[in-house]
Amino acid sequence: MGQLEVRPARGDSAATLALPPACSNGGLMEALRQRRSQREFAPTALPEQMLADLLWAACGVNRPALGGRTAPRAMNCQEIDVYVALPEGLYRYEPAGHVLRLAVPQDIRAMTGNQDFTGEAALDLVFVADDSRVQLVRDEQREDYAYATAGAMAQNVYLYCAWQGLATVIRAWIDRDPLSAAMKLGVDQQVLLAQTVGYPKSSPAA
Ligand SMILES: Cc1cc2nc3c(=O)[nH]c(=O)nc-3n(C[C@H](O)[C@H](O)[C@H](O)COP(=O)(O)O)c2cc1C
Repeated sequence: MGQLEVRPARGDSAATLALPPACSNGGLMEALRQRRSQREFAPTALPEQMLADLLWAACGVNRPALGGRTAPRAMNCQEIDVYVALPEGLYRYEPAGHVLRLAVPQDIRAMTGNQDFTGEAALDLVFVADDSRVQLVRDEQREDYAYATAGAMAQNVYLYCAWQGLATVIRAWIDRDPLSAAMKLGVDQQVLLAQTVGYPKSSPAA
């Protein structure tokens, strides 16, 4: 446990610390440089490998021995599910088996938000909290923690998209009740955020 104490400062305690510019050595730094929200998408489907990598980036298992994930989560609860709305149907990503399970055999992409592009892009992710899996978190903290976890997952998706030249935007402008009904969610499940992903309209791959 931390020892709630203030210690005397060490060193000069300069009022301003001038920092060197952020590095430009490619890799993660370049992905961060390219990260942005885009709202114009081509309808082209993503290749299967890209879909797999995207979902793994969002919340896949990166430390199999511990079941650790690519995104942090409060008290290691695994209460957030990532659903994928595709033209073929609505699927739930299962990180442990790295598989997609069909949840609803309907194209619900246009239900995932109030903006026109939601029915046009290759896919929409929907981040859903399942309260029945959260035991250790106090009631009043559950929603904050769930949104924080979903935000970390969404940023992973942003960085993957930036790296691969895909377009994406995280979205809170959602009609949650009709979407929950279309997704056939249970009483403990809550839609948090959605995120559209696809090729940008102008992309040569589109
Ligand atoms: C919690 C949250 C909710 C958002 N909801 C929407 C949304 O419903 N629709 C949308 O087009 N963009 C949405 N955005 C994206 C923001 O508009 C965008 O991140 C912001 O304008 C900054 O642009 P940038 O991502 O390109 O840096 C949301 C972003 C966050 C963090």
